[in-house]
Amino acid sequence: MRLRSFNPPCPDPTLVTEIAAVDAWEVLDSRGNPTVRATVDTAAGSGTFTVPAGASTGSHEAVELRDGDDRFGGMGVRGAVRAVREELAPVVVGHEVTEQATIDDALVAADGTDSLSALGANAVLAVSGAVARAAAATNGEPLYDYLSPGEPGGIPRPTVNIVSGGLHAHGGVELQDFLIVPMGAETYSEAIEVVWAVRKAVESRIADAGVRPLVADEGGFSPPMEGVVDAFELISAGIADAGFEPSVDDVAFAVDVAATHFYDPDAERYELETEGVSLDRDGMITQLLEWTETYPIVSLEDPLYEDDWEGYRRLAARLDDRVQLLGDDLLVTDRERIDRAIADSAATAVLVKMNQAGTLTRTTDVIERAHDAGLTAVVSARSGETCDSTMADLAVAYGAEQLKVGSLARSERLAKYNRLFEIEAELELPLVAVANA
Ligand code: PGA
Ligand code: ZN
Repeated sequence: MRLRSFNPPCPDPTLVTEIAAVDAWEVLDSRGNPTVRATVDTAAGSGTFTVPAGASTGSHEAVELRDGDDRFGGMGVRGAVRAVREELAPVVVGHEVTEQATIDDALVAADGTDSLSALGANAVLAVSGAVARAAAATNGEPLYDYLSPGEPGGIPRPTVNIVSGGLHAHGGVELQDFLIVPMGAETYSEAIEVVWAVRKAVESRIADAGVRPLVADEGGFSPPMEGVVDAFELISAGIADAGFEPSVDDVAFAVDVAATHFYDPDAERYELETEGVSLDRDGMITQLLEWTETYPIVSLEDPLYEDDWEGYRRLAARLDDRVQLLGDDLLVTDRERIDRAIADSAATAVLVKMNQAGTLTRTTDVIERAHDAGLTAVVSARSGETCDSTMADLAVAYGAEQLKVGSLARSERLAKYNRLFEIEAELELPLVAVANA
């Protein structure tokens, strides 16, 4: 008979921080669509990351792999899960878990394409994100501390969706997000209280008008509206009802125009059907300038379609300094497109979405490049999310000026806001100043 030891074997301390196992599986996101979740284990800790998914995706984003078969209307991600298990796990197992950049390079090399279309950006990012979370757990550090290249300096200013349109609201006005920015708030808690009061006031106005205040994909309201001005007027009234002033110093507006989705490339026109207008590039620029002159807008995201570099240059030259020109579909968290925007003076702010980039290292590289060039970084969720809150830690770690994760509703949105409450309580930091304010 063999003698059995009742003590578990003591792990070799040199192996404790090596990646021992990687696994992945299919879960559902906030729209009920499949997405990839991965877990990375060392002997001392493990980390899980779940990939989000967009609806108004830019055509230059890293490519998510979908099965295209009968399951889930073709949206299944079993192929991406298989890629994690069979192709990516062997590449990362055995690495020191803290070697994020080396691991991310190896993941990109295993895919072999720049757009990550071979194994899927959803497969690659699932592993990349889980590695970072496993490293923080292995080190026994909060994620923001582990990720931070220096000392975290502040909490990003919440830029919060109040009214939704476009592809997130299945009808209604073409513009995708009408957001508010609590410019007067000095702390994160105060900022959220301001937003809460405005959102409740807007909800009451919608209900008082006899309409059910149901919410769209990111938790914003989507009442019937005859045009863009209705949305601005509704929110302005809500801001006043809540005891604030619609102004660039108190409660300001931000807009995600998401213009690619109502741009007709053949006719080269912006089709704003609810406005009853069809505009060429210069007509669209004139319309955008009119909105920014009428309402206290401090941020315009994707105001023109995703490849209109010349339009962005022209708009940037005419836009008041107080309005940041924020690239989402234009820049797709991509280093080369951001370099071009900097060289061309085509944007003053970068939307940062991990799944557009495909790895954590590509994402942090973009934030650092933006900051080096004096651009604002706005860390953003996708319209399809889970309760993964990694982006909140990332935003604090890299000093992002703003966080854009939807409205104050739905648990996948609140997971990010609530994580910032935790970080605020731990670090007692003020909000980061908005560069263009
Ligand atoms: P998406 O929307 O996740 O559907 O792309 C978010 C955004 O456009 O900012
Ligand atoms: Zn956007």
